[in-house]
Amino acid sequence: MKNHVNRVALIGTGAVGSSYAFALLNQGVTEELVLIDLNKEKSEGDAMDLNHGMPFAPSPTKIWFGDYSDCKDADLVVICAGANQKPGETRLDLVEKNTRIFKGIVEQVMANSFDGIFLVATNPVDILTYAVWKFSGLPKERVIGSGTILDTARFRYLLGDYFNVDTRNIHAYIIGEHGDTELPVWSRADIAGIPISQWIKKNSEYKQEDLEELFLNVRDAAYHIIERKGATFYGIAMGLVRVTKAILQNENSVLTVSAYLDGEYDQNDVYIGVPAVVNRNGIREVVHLDLDETEKVKFAHSVKVLKKTMEPVMK
Ligand code: LAC
Repeated sequence: MKNHVNRVALIGTGAVGSSYAFALLNQGVTEELVLIDLNKEKSEGDAMDLNHGMPFAPSPTKIWFGDYSDCKDADLVVICAGANQKPGETRLDLVEKNTRIFKGIVEQVMANSFDGIFLVATNPVDILTYAVWKFSGLPKERVIGSGTILDTARFRYLLGDYFNVDTRNIHAYIIGEHGDTELPVWSRADIAGIPISQWIKKNSEYKQEDLEELFLNVRDAAYHIIERKGATFYGIAMGLVRVTKAILQNENSVLTVSAYLDGEYDQNDVYIGVPAVVNRNGIREVVHLDLDETEKVKFAHSVKVLKKTMEPVMK
């Protein structure tokens, strides 16, 4: 039987999109990658530049500059197109502009009988993922946002640095809006199965206030990077590759992506960052963390802010 050839269609080859393409090639995750962008010249240049690196890649990836007709046979359409945050802008400030752009994109993808999975990266990612679900009419489990996958990675990186432990031995989640109302689930955070609340008692040099400052650095990381280099793109690109790998390789991995809540966490009709099992069919299920009272209040606030922001554009 002919092996299935995985195809990813990338819409938007700006800084995030082209970094994602570069990371995808270097990790050998897919057999085909088609680049779609309004800027034909730039995209064609990206395809040529990436193809010339093929001899250095772990496995061949067929890369070309294409158009929406190439989405027909795609397993995954990744959307990185749209305006990004400028210094001083919040992610939510982008909602009007990017929802309009997304309506056009999704209509063109669906006009080519796309029947795979959408992965959304553009901000405000939770609201735009909801918009893609509405505009596409695909089942909710086949529309996924990058959510708080990067925030969770930042959290684990900074915790690993603070406690001098490999991030692979740290279980800690950031959930909620990918933005200013996100929250750390301290009540479920552990190192090697030992709750962090116990771990800090092991050594007097560890301080609770350090952990509070650590979370603020996670939450505000994008602002700090944008102030310095004008945008963020490497971290999110690698997070998108992680989700792509979980889908194409049917991993059933737990990742904090933007998933649709249909009663989970006592919330409905919203896309938001939560731990979810991700596989070939998209989101298999949302993982319910038993939040403490403070975390429940913060999560409900995050949902409320997203719904309030979404209302004018999704009515
Ligand atoms: C960031 C962008 C992806 O957090 O929102 O870097």
